[in-house]
Amino acid sequence: MAGNSFGQAFRITTAGESHGPGNVVIIDGCPPGIPLSPADLSVDLERRRPGQSKIVTQRQESDEAEILAGVFEGRTTGTSIAILIRNEDQRSRDYSDIKDKYRPGHADYTYDQKFGFRDYRGGGRASARETTARVAAGVVAKKLINSVCGGSVVGYVKQVGNIVATIDDPAAVTLDQVETLPDGEPNIVRCPDVVAAAEMIDLIKEVRKSQDSIGGSAEIVASGIPAGIGEPVFDKLKADLAKALFSLPAVLGVEYGIGFGCVTARGSENNDVFVSETGPDGKPQVRTVTNRHGGMLGGISSGMPIVLRAAVKPTSSLSVEQDTVDSDGNKTTIRTKGRHDPCLLPRFIPMAEAMVAIVLADHILRWRGQNPQQ
Ligand SMILES: Cc1cc2nc3c(=O)[nH]c(=O)nc-3n(C[C@H](O)[C@H](O)[C@H](O)COP(=O)(O)O)c2cc1C
Repeated sequence: MAGNSFGQAFRITTAGESHGPGNVVIIDGCPPGIPLSPADLSVDLERRRPGQSKIVTQRQESDEAEILAGVFEGRTTGTSIAILIRNEDQRSRDYSDIKDKYRPGHADYTYDQKFGFRDYRGGGRASARETTARVAAGVVAKKLINSVCGGSVVGYVKQVGNIVATIDDPAAVTLDQVETLPDGEPNIVRCPDVVAAAEMIDLIKEVRKSQDSIGGSAEIVASGIPAGIGEPVFDKLKADLAKALFSLPAVLGVEYGIGFGCVTARGSENNDVFVSETGPDGKPQVRTVTNRHGGMLGGISSGMPIVLRAAVKPTSSLSVEQDTVDSDGNKTTIRTKGRHDPCLLPRFIPMAEAMVAIVLADHILRWRGQNPQQ
């Protein structure tokens, strides 16, 4: 009922707040025998970590994951996996001013309306700190997908403000391009179009200087997912993926394939034509010439890359003064102290990949449950 669990066959449950002792995830349904270590988890947790570059929040968290259960001698046991990520760098005093004031654009007012009481330090469970647990679970999901079908999930920043990356083939973008520039330096904005990446960084620095923030979008691509994964009605793959991405903080829009571009399209232009080719195993393999359908038809994977986008709003906590009200309804003003990301996109990428991977892992296990011969 409380919505702290997600998924059916591969099910995660999270607990934890921004300024509590830590965040925890319990993963149920992971098959036995998958190699898993804290070092594996740290790869994506590092990509999510605050303080990783000059264009993100300067809070410092080591975000080291402790595996409390479900792994023996470096492999999953098939029992529930528990992972803990402790909170370290909290400055709760930064939030004392907003104890009784509502930050515009944040969840303070709605939390008070629902619970009548809230952990005001940093946003409690509305904080993106909660996603440490999901990113850790996402690593397990990515490993599961890779072990079952060789599939992978890669996300990148598509747009920041009005700067749009040119990406010819979303499925050809590699994790290496997302993380590293051609000269070997870290790609701190996680945009594989290096020209756009440089412009995005300048824009983020500019908004930070003016104590403001900026929105953008992320594109997430799942490759190597076989045709036939998903469900036809309420649990359509597209519906579960939309819920997964919308469950992340600050997401205001989700689309896949041509998305809202379909509004003005004619059927004759929009349909992706099927062709049959000889696959690597010598058998005929059906694919489509184009991928406007984003790898899903009828809620079931088509075997083409699954391509999704999420629109992410600008960070709402700002240090410039804004009008608001307090919990008694009095007019007041607010400046949010603390260290906030001027653009959420670079750190959003591993979160989005994790949620997409968790949905795919869940549906792959459900597919295998129904088709045990696979
Ligand atoms: C990577 C990431 C980091 C975030 N950090 C902050 C932050 O430092 N300050 C803030 O006000 N909101 C931050 N947010 C957004 C809030 O968590 C979110 O806007 C808030 O909970 C309200 O939820 P909603 O935007 O989904 O309606 C972050 C979101 C993401 C994805």
